[in-house]
Amino acid sequence: MEIKVLKSYKELSSTVANVVKRQLKKHPLSKLGLPTGDTPLGMYDELVKRELDWSHVITFNLDVYLMNVDHPESYQNYMRKNLFEKTNIYPDHSHFPFRPTSAFEDKIAGSMGIDLCILGIGTNGHIAFNEPGSSFLSRTRVVDLDEQTIEDNSRFFGSVDDTPKQAITMGLGTIMESKKIVLMANGDHKLNILNVAMNGEVTESIPASVLQNHDNVKVFYCD
Ligand code: GLP
Repeated sequence: MEIKVLKSYKELSSTVANVVKRQLKKHPLSKLGLPTGDTPLGMYDELVKRELDWSHVITFNLDVYLMNVDHPESYQNYMRKNLFEKTNIYPDHSHFPFRPTSAFEDKIAGSMGIDLCILGIGTNGHIAFNEPGSSFLSRTRVVDLDEQTIEDNSRFFGSVDDTPKQAITMGLGTIMESKKIVLMANGDHKLNILNVAMNGEVTESIPASVLQNHDNVKVFYCD
């Protein structure tokens, strides 16, 4: 798999925003899979600047913490703040994983699947919240977060104790059914895991390595 290395975070953000832009220009009724975390923030900024028509777009977020959705760090709030309230997307066109998880899967299937899925990567190789050991066939489900993930994400919550320990995530099987996938990674602390995932053994202990089995993945990295 080829990793395209970009010169700066700005370039990473605008490159991925342009992939989304092309998708929406060509297919205004696209279904997008969307990530959260620090990495995609610049991409959302760039997307907002492009003033695209989101009125026919349907979005499916990759994951949510099992927590109060009104919490400032909930992914629902993150998406509202960074993208949704700055575009003309219809509120009922944006979906987050929910229980029963099979109903969320039905929603994706009922909209004929995800056309373009944007992913980040965790330092342990997770994609969405599919932690090491997740089955490549997994579907949307409730998961316990890995210690490493809780530690990494505690920066948003002030302490490990206050960081959610569970989440609902799209499964690897769900993500792999996306027609196109873009993975973005920022920072040299991601380089090693990115290399292992893209060029190493395809194994459930490195969830992102499943992407080697997909025939339309683009990987963008900047340090
Ligand atoms: C979080 C999210 C992932 C995200 C990853 C990397 O735990 N659930 O979807 O890709 O961690 O986040 P960041 O971009 O903040 O490093």
